[in-house]
Amino acid sequence: MSEPYYITTAISYPNGRPHIGHAYEAIAADVIARFQRQMGRDVRFQTGTDEHGLKMARKAEEQGRTARELADEMSGYFQEMCAALNVSHDRFIRTVEPEHHRASQAIWQAMEANGDLYLDRYEGWYSVRDEAYYDESELESGENGEKLSPQGTPVEWTVEESWFFRLSNYQEPLLELLKSPGFLEPESRRNEMIAFVSGGLRDLSISRTSFDWGVPVPGSENHVMYVWVDALTNYLTGLGYPDDTELWRKFWPADLHLIGKDIVRFHTIYWPAFLMSAKLPLPKKVFGHGFLLNRGQKESKSLGNVTDPLELAEKFGVDALRYFLMREVAFGQDGSYSPEAIVTRANAELANSFGNLAQRTLSMISKNMDGVLEAFEQAPDDVALLETVRTACRELLPDAFEKLAFSVGIEEWMRAVYACNQYVDEQAPWTLRKTDPERMKAVLQTLFIALRDLGIAIQPVVPEKSALLLEQLGVAEDARQFSDLEDENWFVSLVDSGFTVAKPTPIFPRLELPEEEAA
Ligand code: MF3
Repeated sequence: MSEPYYITTAISYPNGRPHIGHAYEAIAADVIARFQRQMGRDVRFQTGTDEHGLKMARKAEEQGRTARELADEMSGYFQEMCAALNVSHDRFIRTVEPEHHRASQAIWQAMEANGDLYLDRYEGWYSVRDEAYYDESELESGENGEKLSPQGTPVEWTVEESWFFRLSNYQEPLLELLKSPGFLEPESRRNEMIAFVSGGLRDLSISRTSFDWGVPVPGSENHVMYVWVDALTNYLTGLGYPDDTELWRKFWPADLHLIGKDIVRFHTIYWPAFLMSAKLPLPKKVFGHGFLLNRGQKESKSLGNVTDPLELAEKFGVDALRYFLMREVAFGQDGSYSPEAIVTRANAELANSFGNLAQRTLSMISKNMDGVLEAFEQAPDDVALLETVRTACRELLPDAFEKLAFSVGIEEWMRAVYACNQYVDEQAPWTLRKTDPERMKAVLQTLFIALRDLGIAIQPVVPEKSALLLEQLGVAEDARQFSDLEDENWFVSLVDSGFTVAKPTPIFPRLELPEEEAA
């Protein structure tokens, strides 16, 4: 029985089209999901859209349509984005689904049954853009003296009847949770949350009465739930909660909530408190990734630098984009991207190093050996190279990926690619062809074996291109797990099967910088 692994992304507000930040999170989560599957785990991967709340309601009103119409259209673009980026989620959840309403009402009732809800009046600040309540003491002042949230968004004074959640009851258990190693990563985000909780928690307003675009509060017809209460519950809905389903038993608690650093408070304070109140197990880990900046700047409509992630994928290829994002930025920190940086990275590492290695090796085998593989004796140089490659692919990359240190894992992998290229240059198989054809065969086949290990290890990052390579190497689809790298007989069985290497299809052709970017 394989070990279950449940990973979720944040669900996005579909109040506009997806931007690069959404693509970044979806890709990172997909790399994790594919990696865990390849490690042999039974993975459940959920993503979706967060469709209720005042932000959605106002945006729809501005556009003269219903919130549902806006949500339907925009949620469609998020689903298209996932498909275009090769995101392999098992479930795309929309919070307008009836079963999500049912799950949200169930957790509400569980919190109520625990004595944690009471009716009162909310008087205070609210940021519609963040869908968040802020205390006066948290506000900052903008250029013209206007009050802004800590995220720099406008806040409005709000007074209305509201249900409250006794968050103040959970200070101690939350502190303990936040201090427990591994719950919130990267570690740098912990202190801020610990300070917030230590400062004393006020009860949280969790329903609204001034609009109706949300999940109805059971028994209070004029209230809809505060959007974060229903949004967070999506993680349960997708497993069948409140029913005692097989999915639920297998996958809850989640192994990882992958989110942006701006919503850590919701996931490591409010969410665990709701779960404790409802007497449900807590997620094992929350990871708050950083933001992607466009040439060092935040994207915004006013700067006119908003990038459509699908355009990037179309220009440079999905896998080059995925590779760039996971390789360039230390996961957890903010990063910067630009078309030049994508092209430079992809050309140096994917085209010139890995792609070229595959292309040279396979075309020499197909030309100089008629594509026929044969058993061979490994010389010490061959053994040494394969050892380097194996260590990178079986240990260094998986160990780093397990810790979500993607750029570190990819760098180790790249080092092994460089080692292969250095070996080719030193062994010079093109010269051996005349002087020592037997040795040439050994060299090319050593590289062939190295390519198989490299191709298997990098699949989570570049699934399409590695599949194209592995196909050309005769690696069966059901033999592409990390554990298959342990199969020492693989090459001999391939030789015995009579597999021949065809004229190769290049996997990573060089990219050109589109003219409009090359200014
Ligand atoms: N829609 C929220 C945002 O974009 C994220 C919600 S994640 C949730 O900030 F799952 F917790 F709901």
